[in-house]
Amino acid sequence: MIRVGVAGASGYSGAELLRYLCRHPHVELGVLAAGTQQGRRLAESFPQFRGILERPLEEADWRRLAAESDVVFLALPHGLSMDAAPELLEGGARVVDLGADFRLRDPQLYRDTYGEEHRAPALLDEAVYGLVEARREQIRETRLVASPGCYPTAAVLPLLPVLPLVEGDEVRVVVDAKSGVSGAGRGASLGTHFSEVNENLRPYKIGAHRHAPEMEQALHSVRPGTRVFFSPHLVPMTRGLLATCYLVGDRLPGRREVESALRAAYAEEPFVRLLDGDDLPETKATYGSNFCDVAVRVDEARGCVVLLAAIDNLGKGAAGQAVQSMNVLCDLEETTGLLGAPLYP
Ligand SMILES: NC(=O)c1ccc[n+]([C@@H]2O[C@H](COP(=O)([O-])OP(=O)(O)OC[C@H]3O[C@@H](n4cnc5c(N)ncnc54)[C@H](OP(=O)(O)O)[C@@H]3O)[C@@H](O)[C@H]2O)c1
Repeated sequence: MIRVGVAGASGYSGAELLRYLCRHPHVELGVLAAGTQQGRRLAESFPQFRGILERPLEEADWRRLAAESDVVFLALPHGLSMDAAPELLEGGARVVDLGADFRLRDPQLYRDTYGEEHRAPALLDEAVYGLVEARREQIRETRLVASPGCYPTAAVLPLLPVLPLVEGDEVRVVVDAKSGVSGAGRGASLGTHFSEVNENLRPYKIGAHRHAPEMEQALHSVRPGTRVFFSPHLVPMTRGLLATCYLVGDRLPGRREVESALRAAYAEEPFVRLLDGDDLPETKATYGSNFCDVAVRVDEARGCVVLLAAIDNLGKGAAGQAVQSMNVLCDLEETTGLLGAPLYP
């Protein structure tokens, strides 16, 4: 059995991790750590675990977490993992971080994006970006997985196989995306208050969201110099994220080329579902799952390729993807504990 600890167990991503982990056949759950909620029982914080996971929420004691875990998931606000990870790794645990601390490889880009110095820059080279479909072999060998952000997951998966087909020196992509409110975490704020969100569709941080540099970095692995304009929106639903990615130009690949690149990349992938015919991705079809549904539309006459992807922000966008990485890290069947149809309706 793999001994697993979770820090941030009282948050949304932490709870989703526990939903997957408590039914995972090779996982033995250890310390479940929280911040302000430590001392409470998990089921007091999250009633869905009543009678299923009756455990206390404890202090985030990194030394103890390292000693008692083979793998530690960090589901913490950004800025905390870079202090925790060095001690966890030193103590012999492997780490899957759901936050942003180890996603950007360049410490200066981290500072420019997150507004503070990176305090464990030596680990940035070692961390592997946990987009399993693109980094499976590197994940197998690492001690530290930087799980991708929710928006980058939905944008990068469909774009990765297609960008190399675009001719010319410069590739510009517009990513227009909509997310459910759980993407902002459990903490209460005016912006996520029911009356503010309900019956509202709100753009935010247009062209200035922290996930844009992460998307660019991931896309530069297949197409250096790609520039992303990112336009996120908050929609009045709890979970779900839809990304619509636009490539516009005169030297774009045709429909057949795009479709066959997507098929070559993902036909064998267990969690990427390529839609054909008239089907288009919709968030509800991925609700509560680790699936990413992808479709493409190409308007050759107008020079436009549109890639669409839907995920559950807490599933493939966070906890599901992190468990998928753990399965790879631990040499388990990649789908263990993750399969099953999404909730519908
Ligand atoms: N939500 C998503 O869709 C999503 C998707 C991808 C990635 N992520 C990333 O995953 C991470 C967690 O996000 P979330 O949405 O789950 O946030 P959240 O609901 O706000 O949960 C944050 C968790 O961190 C804990 N925490 C805060 N400060 C702490 C401290 N000093 N020591 C120990 N624990 C502390 C909180 O504990 P208390 O509540 O007990 O204080 C809570 O359990 C973030 O980095 C986020 O960017 C989230």
